[in-house]
Amino acid sequence: MYFNYEVPEEFKWFPESRYGLFIHWGPYALTGRGEQALFRDHMNQREYEKMACGWNPQNYDPREWAAFCREAGFKYACLTTRHHDGYCLWDCKVTDYTSMRQAPHRDFVREYVEAFREAGLKIGLYYSWCDWRIPAYYEGPGKDQEKWDEMQQYIWKQVEELCTGYGKIDYFFFDGVWPRNAEDLKSRSLVEKMRQWQPSIMINNRLGFSTDPAQLLEHGGGNEEGDFGTPEHNVNPEGRLWEACRVSYWRWWGYHSGERFQETERLLDTLCTCASEGGNLILNVGPDADGRIPEEFRRRALEIGGWLKKYGEAVYGNDGGSMTEALTYGFQTIKGNDLYLIFRFWDGKTKFVLPDLTSGVVSAELMGTGEKLKFEKKGDDLILYGLPEKTEEPLFPVIKIECSTRPDTNSWGRQRLWEGDPGRVADWAREQRGSGLWTSI
Ligand code: GLC
Repeated sequence: MYFNYEVPEEFKWFPESRYGLFIHWGPYALTGRGEQALFRDHMNQREYEKMACGWNPQNYDPREWAAFCREAGFKYACLTTRHHDGYCLWDCKVTDYTSMRQAPHRDFVREYVEAFREAGLKIGLYYSWCDWRIPAYYEGPGKDQEKWDEMQQYIWKQVEELCTGYGKIDYFFFDGVWPRNAEDLKSRSLVEKMRQWQPSIMINNRLGFSTDPAQLLEHGGGNEEGDFGTPEHNVNPEGRLWEACRVSYWRWWGYHSGERFQETERLLDTLCTCASEGGNLILNVGPDADGRIPEEFRRRALEIGGWLKKYGEAVYGNDGGSMTEALTYGFQTIKGNDLYLIFRFWDGKTKFVLPDLTSGVVSAELMGTGEKLKFEKKGDDLILYGLPEKTEEPLFPVIKIECSTRPDTNSWGRQRLWEGDPGRVADWAREQRGSGLWTSI
């Protein structure tokens, strides 16, 4: 299958990139309880605020973060400029609850933007609509209009600062819209403004447009809105640009002490799932309160980075996936005339049959070692010979198949196991063995 959606010129970097780093970082890291400790643990608001004002990370070094990010193969990043706790990581002029006016006296957002831009990475900013400190947000416009207007302007001003004070911002990730909606927040007009401030910015879909309360809760509402969809904790292909945002722990985004990290294979599996389904993955890390990226995450991300150095062309900017039946081994991706088979495991057999590939084949190669593989095309079957019993690749080995045209398949490839015309199964059985119940007939 090919991903047939229009991508405006200025957004082309996004599917080209496929893989970004989400960074959830703020004073909540001090609690070691994830980014939502204030709310989840019903902490005392004043005490939390005091703690946040005293937060003073000594090891925040965004140049080092950016170097790591590049080495690990991420092409863009997104930093939480303000999460639901309301603390701002930049020099915001409309509140003093910021890293500039409180203990650090630093504009963390500026430092991040400059370092990541310098490293050639695309820049994303995350911003939470909701602020757990502000009653007006939860009471809505109906209750105290003056307070609501004040809060509304506060949001607009903050978004304006982020969009006008830091040079080119490539991507903006709104979040936490519940219980408000697009009408309350006037998000449509805000988005229009943002496009004036940043003409080629990509804005996500959590803008509150859905009328379905469950959707509002889940994704901030309305998959049809925004420039890209943001399935969270899952991979939900959409017929347009989308990006799955996923944790690297099992649950939390912000730093959580003792939380288990998912293993490298699992994280790589998610990346390959997204790429083969036509979307991006933004994988999250929560640096600790002092500004360090946890070692466990580093190791895993760098292992994936090493894999991407060898096989990145199968992932970055791929324009298709899952062409024929290869699901039981792993993934397929396509770029131009090339078909990539990404194996979750290597079964040690020296021969491999790929059914239902109608295109001609020019060459087949075991990537990484560059070893050319002998092949034969028998009808729509591609048969590869002389595969090594073991590969050097500790993660997912990849075979690249160069076709003479865009890879294509037959009806069996298009209609998989439990879909399509059941008549084709009947024809197949009848033609090859008749219709009896006994082997002898
Ligand atoms: C959710 C959570 C939030 C996290 C975000 C990332 O909406 O409330 O903590 O930042 O998802 O997508």
